[in-house]
Amino acid sequence: MSDRRNPVPEGAQKRGGPWTEQKLRVVSDYLHAYCTALKKQGFSTLYIDAFAGAGTEYLATSRNAGNLFDTLAEAETQRLLRGSARRALECVPPFDRYVLIEKDVVRCEDLRLLADCHARRHFQVEVIHGDANEVVPRECGQLQRDAGDRGVVFLDPYGMQVKWSTIESIANTKALDLWVLFPLGVAVNRLVVRAGVPDIPESWQRRLDQIFGTRGWRDHFYGAVSRPTLFGSEEVVRRVRREAIGAYFIERLEAVFEGGVVKKPGVLRNSKGIPLYLLCFAVANPAPKAKVLALKIANDLLRDIA
Ligand SMILES: C[S@@+](CC[C@H](N)C(=O)[O-])C[C@H]1O[C@@H](n2cnc3c(N)ncnc32)[C@H](O)[C@@H]1O
Repeated sequence: MSDRRNPVPEGAQKRGGPWTEQKLRVVSDYLHAYCTALKKQGFSTLYIDAFAGAGTEYLATSRNAGNLFDTLAEAETQRLLRGSARRALECVPPFDRYVLIEKDVVRCEDLRLLADCHARRHFQVEVIHGDANEVVPRECGQLQRDAGDRGVVFLDPYGMQVKWSTIESIANTKALDLWVLFPLGVAVNRLVVRAGVPDIPESWQRRLDQIFGTRGWRDHFYGAVSRPTLFGSEEVVRRVRREAIGAYFIERLEAVFEGGVVKKPGVLRNSKGIPLYLLCFAVANPAPKAKVLALKIANDLLRDIA
């Protein structure tokens, strides 16, 4: 159950839904377009799947709603889906190198088995058991843009696990494209309570600071408005709408990604039409030709779910 100490339990969205397939299709179509565009251009290409899962399958169950999160994330049928890592490894043409990061030890074992299936192919696969917020900045720090390193990162958390510092490390490479799932409906919208900042527990405020990389959301999400009363007027706190919270995250991305950001991200909704996540795209590479092409492809792929 949700409570004030932990409004968004780890794994709240584990069961997925139709939106899971939308997300995976957009990202894998992008990877295919990316590798095709960069083929024979002499770049050394890298794919980082930082919340890689088990790689092989994604289970969507039809279990009945039992708590607050189930009502948001209900899934219609029991289905096996090919996960992001498997789709990426099957990309034709492939990347030169794959880094698959996963915190769960059992899922890492599954990823290693998956990597073994591709052992004879002409690319490298590294499975790393660890925290994406430590491993991604380390990998980004080793990247050499001037030596021709280019690539794509996919950050696919269940909730608020992505730290802003991780996103910044990707932007700083000036070489990587980023797909990131922003947990608007499943998490952030719940933490930004309507009553105002004093009513947000300290621990929730820290999580919001961490995901936005600034304390600035406090001023951005709340303002005082004057409301008429019998005796004149009074000042009340007004919170912005959910859409403005998503727009703020896009603004934050725009502040660090020199290549640009898709302004209308994909909106992944449950069957009641409630937005669960935003599927956002950003380009670190400032080279005009590269950024224009990347943004065009991503915009086209997101158009149907924007
Ligand atoms: C939404 S699932 C990923 C699904 C996967 N992209 C797929 O398509 O199958 C999120 C995954 O991230 C893992 N995870 C959670 N926190 C993590 C962290 N800090 N670093 C790396 N992996 C993490 C979870 O164990 C889980 O497997």
